[in-house]
Amino acid sequence: MNPKWWKESVVYQIYPISFMDSNGDGIGDLRGIISKLDYLKDLGVDVIWVCPIYKSPNHDNGYDISDYCDIMAEFGTMEDFDLMLKEIHLRGMKLVMDLVLNHTSHKHPWFLESRRSKDDPKRDFYIWRKGKNGGPPNNWESYFSGSVWEYDEQTDEYYLHLYSKYQPDLNWENPQVVEKLHEMVAWWLKKGVDGFRFDAIAHIVKQKGLPDADNPHRAPTVRAYEMFSNLEDVHTMLQNLYDKVLYFYDIMTVGETSGLGPEQALDYVGDGRRELNMTFQFEHMFLDAASAGSGKWDVVPWSLIELKKIMTNWQTVLHNRGWNANYLCNHDQPRSVSRFGNDMVCRVPSAKMLATFIHTLEGTPYIYQGEEIGMTNVAFDSIDDYRDVETLNYYEEQRMNGVPEEEIMKAIHKKSRDNARTPMQWDGTEHAGFTTGTPWLRVNSNHMEINVVNAVKDPDSIFHYYKKLIALRKQHKVIVYGEYKLLLPEHEEIYAYTRTLENERLLVILNFFGKEPMLELPDEFNPDGIELLISNYEPRKGEDFRKLKLRPYEARVYLQRL
Ligand code: GLC
Ligand code: CA
Repeated sequence: MNPKWWKESVVYQIYPISFMDSNGDGIGDLRGIISKLDYLKDLGVDVIWVCPIYKSPNHDNGYDISDYCDIMAEFGTMEDFDLMLKEIHLRGMKLVMDLVLNHTSHKHPWFLESRRSKDDPKRDFYIWRKGKNGGPPNNWESYFSGSVWEYDEQTDEYYLHLYSKYQPDLNWENPQVVEKLHEMVAWWLKKGVDGFRFDAIAHIVKQKGLPDADNPHRAPTVRAYEMFSNLEDVHTMLQNLYDKVLYFYDIMTVGETSGLGPEQALDYVGDGRRELNMTFQFEHMFLDAASAGSGKWDVVPWSLIELKKIMTNWQTVLHNRGWNANYLCNHDQPRSVSRFGNDMVCRVPSAKMLATFIHTLEGTPYIYQGEEIGMTNVAFDSIDDYRDVETLNYYEEQRMNGVPEEEIMKAIHKKSRDNARTPMQWDGTEHAGFTTGTPWLRVNSNHMEINVVNAVKDPDSIFHYYKKLIALRKQHKVIVYGEYKLLLPEHEEIYAYTRTLENERLLVILNFFGKEPMLELPDEFNPDGIELLISNYEPRKGEDFRKLKLRPYEARVYLQRL
C-alpha cells in the first residue's frame, strides 16, 4: 500500500484570475486567494494547486510565461506570494505550483533573443525550421486550431508552437534549456513550495526529424499528436529532472499527459520509475467527443458503460503499481455537473453523486474551484463575451469554414473552457462577490442562487456534502488504499463497486441518471455489520439495501467489516 501524504490528500484547484479579486480591478489575485484560505481550510482540503501566477502577457491566462521567477503584475508581487505560501502553511495546507515547461511566452527574453537572428546564442532554445514548398515545415495541427508553425519574417523561418502562436515550444534537445529549467524548478523548491503540476509535460519531446503525420488530426491511425506526445525521451527528461532536482524534496508531482492509457501511464508513475507521482489521464474527457484532439467540439452522447470501462481499467492497472489522479473538471473542461450530471432539475443530487464518485475511487481526488458548490456551465449569446484563446480561434476557424453562427455557439456553450472560468460565485450580489469592479469575464447569472454564502448556510448543500466526503477520507484508510472491484459491469445506469482493504470493504452505489433503476446486489452482500457512511438522500424506513429502487442520481457509500 506504500502510504504517502499525497495519496491521503484532497487537492483543490484554483484558477487565480477567476477566484477572488482583492483590489477591484476585475482580476482575481493572490491577496484574494489569501482572503479565502479559511474557507478552503473549513472545506478540509490538504493541497492547493494554483494555476500559473508567473509574469505573463496573458494570451492564455498565464500559461504563456515571460518570467518564471516573477509574479504576474495583475496577481500581485513576490511579497504577496511569500505571504500566501506562509498563510497556506500556517493552516497546515500545502501549495502545488503549475509549471509550464513545454513552452514559454513569445515575450520571454529567451524567445526575444532567439528570434533576433539565426546565429543568436539562444536560437536553439526554440524549434526553428525553414518552410517547405512555400508552406510550413510539416502538416501538424495546433491544439488551438491551425498549423503548429508560425512564420517569422525577420529570419525567414518558422517556429513551432503546439498551442497558440504566443506560446513557442522550448527545445528540450538543447542541454542549456534543460539546465535553465532545472535551476528554475530548484529555485521554487528552495522557496518551500510543496510540489508541481507539470503542464503539457507529455509534449516536451517531438518526433525526431519532425515528419509529416499521416493525417494531421481526426485520423484513426497516426494522429499528429502521436508525433509529439509521450515519446520515449520524455521519460529520459523526467528521470533526469527527478534525479537532479525533485528527488531531494518531499513533494507531490502530477503531470498533464493526454493521449495515453494506464499501461503507458505506468511509465510515468510506476513505483520505482523516478518520474512523477500521478498523471492526469484524458480518456474519460473524450467520452462525449466525436474524436480525440480537436474532435472535442463535436459533442456526442456519452455512455456509462464506457465510463466504467475506462475508469475500471485505470483503477485495476495502477493498483499497487502507481497512483491515480481523479477529476471530472478543471480549467480546461466544462463544468462537471453540466456535463455528467444534470444542472437543471437535479443539480444538487447529481453534483453530490459525482463528488461521491471522485472521492471513493483509488487515487487522489481533485476539486476544481466552484465544483464544491455545484457551479454550472454558462451560455453567453455573443462570442464577444468569451475570452478563451482556444474558443476564439475555434470560432474564427469555423466561421471561415462557413459553419453557421448558431452551430458554432452551440458547441461553445457545451465545451468552451470559459465554462469553468467564469468568476467564483461567493455571494448573490452583482458580481457574485468576486469583484467590486467589472469582472474580466462575466459572472454566471445563476450566482443569485448558486453561491458560497448560501451553500455554507444550508446543512444539506453540496458544500457540506464535500466536507463530509473529505472528512471520511481522513477516517477510513479503505477509502484511500482499498482495492477496487467493479460490480454490475453491464448496467447502463448504475455504477457500483467495492473497495477492499484488509477486513474492511466499502460499497459504493451510484445512480448516474435521472431515472429510478432497481439495484440488485449479489448474495455476498449481507447486512451484517454494514454501516451507511454517506448518501445524498435519506434512506427509506425498513428498506433492504440489496434490493433498492434508486432515486434520481442517488449515491450511497457503505462500510462493512468482513
Ligand atoms: C494545458 C493547460 C491549458 C493550457 C495549455 C497550454 O493544457 O491546462 O490551460 O492552455 O496547457 O499551456
Ligand atoms: Ca485584482
